[in-house]
Amino acid sequence: MYRSKLLFLWAALIALGRATPASHLWGPTLSRVYDTTDTLPRPNVGNLNVHDPNVVFWKDHYYLFKGGVHVPYFRAANMSGPWTQIGTVLDGDSVIHQGNRSRPWAPTTVERNGTFYCFYTLSTRGSRNSAIGVATTTVLDGSPWIDHGAVVRTGQGNGSTVWPFTVSNAIDASFIRDQATGQAYLNYGSFWHDIWQVPLADDWLSIKSPERPDAVQLTFIPREVVRPEEGSWLSYHDGYYYAWFSHGECCNFDEHGFPERNDEYSIRVGRSRAVRGPFVDHDNKMLLDGGGTVVYASNHGLVYAPGGLGVLARNDSSPDILYYHYLNTSIGFRDDQALLGWNYLKYDNGWPVVIDGIDAKTSAAPVYQLPSRLYLLTMMGRWSRSALCFTAFSEILANWGFSTGLWLYLLWS
Ligand SMILES: *[C@@H]1O[C@H](CO)[C@@H](O)[C@H](O)[C@H]1NC(C)=O
Ligand SMILES: *[C@@H]1O[C@H](CO)[C@@H](O)[C@H](O)[C@H]1NC(C)=O
Ligand SMILES: *[C@@H]1O[C@H](CO)[C@@H](O)[C@H](O)[C@H]1NC(C)=O
Ligand SMILES: *[C@@H]1O[C@H](CO)[C@@H](O)[C@H](O)[C@H]1NC(C)=O
Ligand SMILES: *[C@@H]1O[C@H](CO)[C@@H](O)[C@H](O)[C@H]1NC(C)=O
Ligand SMILES: *[C@@H]1O[C@H](CO)[C@@H](O)[C@H](O)[C@H]1NC(C)=O
Repeated sequence: MYRSKLLFLWAALIALGRATPASHLWGPTLSRVYDTTDTLPRPNVGNLNVHDPNVVFWKDHYYLFKGGVHVPYFRAANMSGPWTQIGTVLDGDSVIHQGNRSRPWAPTTVERNGTFYCFYTLSTRGSRNSAIGVATTTVLDGSPWIDHGAVVRTGQGNGSTVWPFTVSNAIDASFIRDQATGQAYLNYGSFWHDIWQVPLADDWLSIKSPERPDAVQLTFIPREVVRPEEGSWLSYHDGYYYAWFSHGECCNFDEHGFPERNDEYSIRVGRSRAVRGPFVDHDNKMLLDGGGTVVYASNHGLVYAPGGLGVLARNDSSPDILYYHYLNTSIGFRDDQALLGWNYLKYDNGWPVVIDGIDAKTSAAPVYQLPSRLYLLTMMGRWSRSALCFTAFSEILANWGFSTGLWLYLLWS
């Protein structure tokens, strides 16, 4: 009996192999790819395609900045949209001659006394020939911002021969102020020696001491060749500074395939009483020693590789919001399919935790859906005894429809 079933499945597989492209046959339905945990809540959907979102709340509206040609920005009355594009931060290519001048990454915008400062990144994938620039405006109405050029550079250009710009990568800017002194800090960095912090000059357009930048390192993964930490964010809440970052692989899953489960982006954090650290995670492990508590990660076989995060710090009556981009496994894995997601945060003994479930108060009605087909596939993949059985079954499911697949599965097991 067993043998005949196996033969049948082989025949089915061969037939399918002919009928479908190989990339589909061995594609992302494999259970090793997705994390199906249901201990993390699903996101509130933001209803916007974004990569590395950044949100500012100003005069009863959310303003969202994202990586894209000339840094597009949007406005909405609600985090779940609808979002209306206002314009772009840059009205042409950046004045900085470095990286990709037309397509900045990972903007971070902050406001001081009615002036907005947008820190943006110029780079190219896999390179540390990068710069962080800054542009300012006093109105968020689509009129041009003033591009002030580079704040820091690595690889080449003014200042790039000064440590730590000699070892780090000038991408993914974030910002924090010392609560007591008001001193502003730029945080930045990626796979090259991970995340760093330098004090900004009072004008916030340059670093305080270009010759001796007074840099501190915030995160590091020692004893590893690849150190996948980037996209820092610093927030403050009730006596603690929080250093957030994305850990793992961010992008290119459609072209380069999938990493081992949990090696994709996840959102991690450490905390400190001091803005300059050192930061430790929930297990008291230093962020400089590879530490970082996972706050949000792939879940339900549906949400994949969340990261590029920010925290919208608010007040006692409105909880903080964690926002990020993620891939929806039932939509696709191209970088331009990344979506805005968000969750309210609560603090358990000073540790941030994403709050369960869909935001019942948002204007976007909560969607209670059946688990996605991929989720079912993955779960059944866990139960089934052999990888062959699972692969064949999942492909039958994917290609011949759910009821046929289920029928075959029940017959088989
Ligand atoms: C979204 O809008 C609803 C009301 O329409 C409001 O109750 C809710 O707090 C809003 N949420 C956010 C995050 O803006
Ligand atoms: C810069 O980015 C744009 C938009 O993504 C792309 O079309 C262009 O080819 C890139 N240029 C370089 C030099 O990489
Ligand atoms: C804030 O901006 C206003 C108007 O632009 C200016 O008069 C005032 O001096 C500024 N305050 C500070 C603290 O910079
Ligand atoms: C290089 O940076 C220094 C310090 O920030 C600045 O004073 C100088 O004008 C810059 N030179 C150029 C050519 O941009
Ligand atoms: C708290 O934050 C919300 C949202 O940012 C804002 O609408 C409200 O006015 C704030 N309340 C106070 C007391 O600052
Ligand atoms: C994922 O995509 C499916 C199909 O479009 C949709 O029904 C579901 O609401 C989405 N979920 C999230 C969290 O994006």
